[in-house]
Amino acid sequence: MDKIKIIGGVALKGSVEVSGAKNSALPVLISSILGNSPSYFKKVPDLQDIKTTEAVLNHLGITTQAGSLENEIILDSSKTISFEAPYDLVRKMRASVLVLGPLVAKLGKAKVSLPGGCAIGARPINFHLTALEKLGAKITLENGYVFAECKRLQGNRVTFEFPSVGATENIMMAACLAKGETILENCAKEPEIKDLADSLRSMGAEIEGDGTETIRIQGKDQLAGAKHSIIGDRIEAGTFLAAALATQGKVEVKGLDPIHLEAVLTKFETAGAKITRAPKSITLEANGRSWGTDFQTLPFPGFPTDMQAQFMAAMCLADGSSVITETIFENRFLHVPELMRLGADLVIRSNAVHVRGKSELIGAPVMATDLRASASLVIGGLAARGETTVSRIYHLDRGYEKMEMKLKSLGAQIERVKE
Ligand code: EPU
Repeated sequence: MDKIKIIGGVALKGSVEVSGAKNSALPVLISSILGNSPSYFKKVPDLQDIKTTEAVLNHLGITTQAGSLENEIILDSSKTISFEAPYDLVRKMRASVLVLGPLVAKLGKAKVSLPGGCAIGARPINFHLTALEKLGAKITLENGYVFAECKRLQGNRVTFEFPSVGATENIMMAACLAKGETILENCAKEPEIKDLADSLRSMGAEIEGDGTETIRIQGKDQLAGAKHSIIGDRIEAGTFLAAALATQGKVEVKGLDPIHLEAVLTKFETAGAKITRAPKSITLEANGRSWGTDFQTLPFPGFPTDMQAQFMAAMCLADGSSVITETIFENRFLHVPELMRLGADLVIRSNAVHVRGKSELIGAPVMATDLRASASLVIGGLAARGETTVSRIYHLDRGYEKMEMKLKSLGAQIERVKE
């Protein structure tokens, strides 16, 4: 197992290009199931979760092939595909459940393993199932699997109980092949939803309202393959900017739309950083030590839960206190005891963490527990005096492409070592 070794205390400086967004690429690749001809995707990040997605699609009989350029992929779902996503694959990556909607829409049946719990929360899929039932699917649960069956899905009005990202994506994909009109209400508005809708439109789907709470879809009898380039990863960008703040540096992130990260940029400004927004890039310049800043995670356009851990790492070194409240997941503070190993002063009270900023953190061996927690420990290590080792970094490899190489290019003393 690899680990990351960091000698901290170096202010990050320079410019870095973000990869394609993991959380766009996963549903977008999965949506190729709906097409009757090959799909071409650009800017697909080279990540463990993408490899798992490819394994799921291959299991369904969809062939995957690298394109002529780096980060391009061609998926061919034109041949008959299987309707089962087994436990062994789904348990590796929860987003595999996104095959459910497209499979039942295209084949009239799907058998998909229930993903089970996750380190950051229980993460049930009840909203996905209730919505599919509304479109006419018969759902049964047996032996840890969901069976969904329907001759042809029928458009309907569906109101989500909560603006779930995954449920919005799953049902939006399914509705593209349903008969008639589907109106989805209380939808997630994350940029990844719009990116998926753009890709589906390139297949011939008729979708309006993506990025707002109401999405209207006119179902089609069939769809062609997609041609789409994945948007830049706003969470990867925010992670580098948080590292710049924590190390009191100056970093430009390129290749994303700043509006996708606005809630986080505003908080960086409240914390004292200077933010420069350009059409496709953002620069953060720290103004000495930052100030303690309160925030709570919310669905988009609020502060993303996927940036909570990384921002907290920066606030551990701020002048003053911060109260950080997590409202999306019930157990997303696994990084807290590990940041405390670096000397951070943190107290968990229910769904909030009270942070008392310290003037320095001191390097220590720490352990990654999930993707964003790992990123926050890397930030802590970059800012801490002396050596930090982060073990179990397979979590990091699920969601950050070439992270240590990119950080090195910003001046970080960081290397990957074999354990
Ligand atoms: N929820 C339910 N029932 C459902 C669906 C969701 O109770 O049927 C609950 C969840 O348990 C959670 C909340 O609703 O408490 C929000 O979950 P959501 O469905 O929005 O999240 P998701 O689709 O499972 C995606 C991202 C996550 C990100 C969340 C929130 C992907 C592949 N994953 O998950 O990304 O945190 O949206 O923005 O898009 C990450 O990248 O580190 C990550 C965890």
